[in-house]
Amino acid sequence: MVGPDSPSPVSPPATPIRIFDTTLRDGEQSPGASLNLKEKLEIARVLEQLGVDIIEAGFPITSQGDFDSVSAIASELTASTVAGLARCTEKDVRRAGEAVKHAKFGRVHVFCATSKIHREFKLKKAKEEIIRMTRDNVQLARSYVSDVEFSPEDASRTELDYLAEVVHAAIEAGATTINCPDTVGFTTPAEYRAMFEYLIKHVPGADKVIFSTHCHNDLGLAVANSLAGVQGGARQVECTINGIGERAGNASLEEIVMAIKTRHDVYPFSTRINSKKLVPASRLVSSLTGLHVQRNKAIVGENAFAHESGIHQDGMLKHKSTYEIMTPSDVGWAQSVNVLGKHSGRHAYKTRLEELGYRLTEEELAIAFERFKTLCDKKKEIYDEDIEAIIEDQLESAEQLFRLKNLQVVAGTNGIPTATVTLLDSTGEPVTDAATGDGPIDAMFAVIQRITHISAKLVNYEVRSVTEGKDAQGEATVELLHSERKIRGRGVSTDILEASAKAYLAAINRIRTLQKKTVSQATPM
Ligand code: KIV
Ligand code: ZN
Repeated sequence: MVGPDSPSPVSPPATPIRIFDTTLRDGEQSPGASLNLKEKLEIARVLEQLGVDIIEAGFPITSQGDFDSVSAIASELTASTVAGLARCTEKDVRRAGEAVKHAKFGRVHVFCATSKIHREFKLKKAKEEIIRMTRDNVQLARSYVSDVEFSPEDASRTELDYLAEVVHAAIEAGATTINCPDTVGFTTPAEYRAMFEYLIKHVPGADKVIFSTHCHNDLGLAVANSLAGVQGGARQVECTINGIGERAGNASLEEIVMAIKTRHDVYPFSTRINSKKLVPASRLVSSLTGLHVQRNKAIVGENAFAHESGIHQDGMLKHKSTYEIMTPSDVGWAQSVNVLGKHSGRHAYKTRLEELGYRLTEEELAIAFERFKTLCDKKKEIYDEDIEAIIEDQLESAEQLFRLKNLQVVAGTNGIPTATVTLLDSTGEPVTDAATGDGPIDAMFAVIQRITHISAKLVNYEVRSVTEGKDAQGEATVELLHSERKIRGRGVSTDILEASAKAYLAAINRIRTLQKKTVSQATPM
């Protein structure tokens, strides 16, 4: 058995695999996850530091917000390639081309469905027409950038001979990467591997392009299928942090990377990913999207390196390789979770923030450090989650229109729950009001609605502890329904009522921002 301490056998030379991260595009398509420009930029910076080769930053035609995000990320990043997605239409391709035109390394990713089901029911187009569209739009994309990816959507359910024809047309038109998605998570490892082997063998020019996997997790096979695709000749893997994405999600980046690293004997490949940054990246994505990582999730779940049973603990004490095939520090679980406390200085705090993937301005750092010190007075042990909670809360509150100044809630078994709240409006003016409700939370949300004059339906409300112990910080998330859109907000505090009020207010502030945008912006389409 190979373990972390076993002497490594002489390894064959590793073939490089490109990691194409689509957290900001396919990942953001997860129900409930939507990110603003600032959040997307923050994630993109972390992905670049992680060593991601290509970052798919969005789908520029879908909204002005998506266009702006792709464009801002493309303008800033210098190490990773930045891609924008486009359907196989002139309007889409031009918009994606415009969005990545300032990138140091820009890519346009064009896709067109090819399977019989999609041709007949979705596109209502004949095979020849799809080939023509592919050729025209890949050529158009090449007039913007030299790096063009083409995806025959639902490739894994497309007749192989027809798939080969489409791929051939895309290569002839100038595509440099051919991505073959398992769009609905239907394929199996052997089938998916065989598809790549067939295409690489039969399509003229296949040796001039990079083939890529893109697997969805409907049957829980996304990672296994991606690895099988690599064994079949693919040299790019499309994936997302924490495996987020449409429906059951995409192949998870951290699982792909660690499978290749840990089972190098089976997968003689390498990636540029700095695995020690995986956990911080996972935390950031989870926190900004509001999609919690399940405890037993491989690599980045809280239990991934926790040993509970006596037999396992005994084995671990004798030799770690008995029950661990990777070391926690290899994937970024901090060894120093408890070391920060009230005696820690600003330098140690800043270093830890950087290890966690945050780069703050001096001004942001000064505010965060003050809040950290205040928390140290309230709480004995400061965990990484506490530090992250402060930063996330701070970054979110930087965008606030209303701020919470005071909160008083009266509740009990016999009285009527009442909340009195003072908010500061965008000019800093305090506004106070009170309301009753079915319970303390209901009363609190009612009074916030009254002060802000924004009413929305509460569709989801969750509170969880982000750290341990009776002095733990609570994180509240709310989801509001407003004008047929779901808007999320989160708040953090050692007091869960305060965390809930902050979360509610964050969502209300988002609604305000969206309302302003709708009034002041003409949509591009
Ligand atoms: O799943 C899929 O087919 C996609 C394409 C747009 C690449 O996400
Ligand atoms: Zn997809």
